[in-house]
Amino acid sequence: MHQLNQISEATNFILSKTKQQPTVGMILGSGLGGLADEIENATVIPYSQIPHFAKSEAVGHANELVIGEMEGKVVVAMKGRFHYYEGYTLDEVTFPVRVMKALGVESVLITNACGAINTSFKPGDLMLITDHINLVANNPLIGPNNDALGTRFPDLSQVYNKELRQVALKVGKEQGTDLQQGVYAWWTGPAYETPAEIRMIRILGADTVGMSTVPEAIVATHAKLRVLGISCLTNMACGILDQPLNHDEVIEVASQVRTKFIRLVKGILKE
Ligand code: 6GU
Repeated sequence: MHQLNQISEATNFILSKTKQQPTVGMILGSGLGGLADEIENATVIPYSQIPHFAKSEAVGHANELVIGEMEGKVVVAMKGRFHYYEGYTLDEVTFPVRVMKALGVESVLITNACGAINTSFKPGDLMLITDHINLVANNPLIGPNNDALGTRFPDLSQVYNKELRQVALKVGKEQGTDLQQGVYAWWTGPAYETPAEIRMIRILGADTVGMSTVPEAIVATHAKLRVLGISCLTNMACGILDQPLNHDEVIEVASQVRTKFIRLVKGILKE
C-alpha cells in the first residue's frame, strides 16, 4: 500500500497548483471525460507531473486531473483512469482515490462504460450501481493495512451510498432520464468475456460487466468516502445478441449519452 508520505507529497503538489479545496471527486470512464470540460475556473494537472501517480503511456486518454467549480461545488475530476488490464497494480489504480481523500473529498462519483447482461437494459442506458461482484482474484487492500487510512476488514454492505442513489433517482426522474439500477461485475479484461462467461456472470447475479470501478470503490469505502457509481451501458454483453463486440462502438455510444450524462451529474451536484 502507498505510504502516507507518498499521499501527502501528491496532495501537497496539487495544493501548490490551486487554492481550491475539492469536496467532490469524480472518476470519469471511457468516453465520459467530456464532463471535465464543464468544470469552471479549472486547474488542469497532467498525471505525469503528480508525484507517485502511475506512469501512463496510453494514447487517446487525457490523463489529467481537473480541479474547479461545478454547480457551486469544488470538484476534482480524473479525466481518464488507470485500468488493471493496462498492467498497473491495484495500488496504482486506486492511489488517486487516496489523494482525493487527503484533499478533503467526502463523496466520489465513479463512472464507467460497461456491457449490459440484463436483457431489460439497452445500449445508451445509464445505470446506478447498487452493488458489485468482484470476479477478479485480487483486492486493492491486500498487503499490510495502514490503520490511519482505514480498517483492516472494511464492511462492504453499502458501498454505493443509498442517499446519493436516492438523489440521483430523483434528479433523473425530473430530467426525464430513466435510470436503470443493478449489480456491476468486475472482469479484468482487456479481452471481453466469452458468451459462456457471460452466462456464468448472469447466473452469479450481475446485471452488467466491466473492467474498472470495483477497485476504486473498495478503496473509497476503506477511506470512508461516500460512493455514487454510474455506468453507461454501451453495448449488450457478448452472446446476448448474435454479434461481435468492438471498442469503437463502446466509445461511440458513451459519447452519445454525453448530454444526458452531464445533465444528470450537474443535477446531482446541485442537490
Ligand atoms: Cl461486454 N465487458 C466488459 N468487461 N467491459 C465492457 C463491456 C463488456 N462493454 C463495455 N465495457
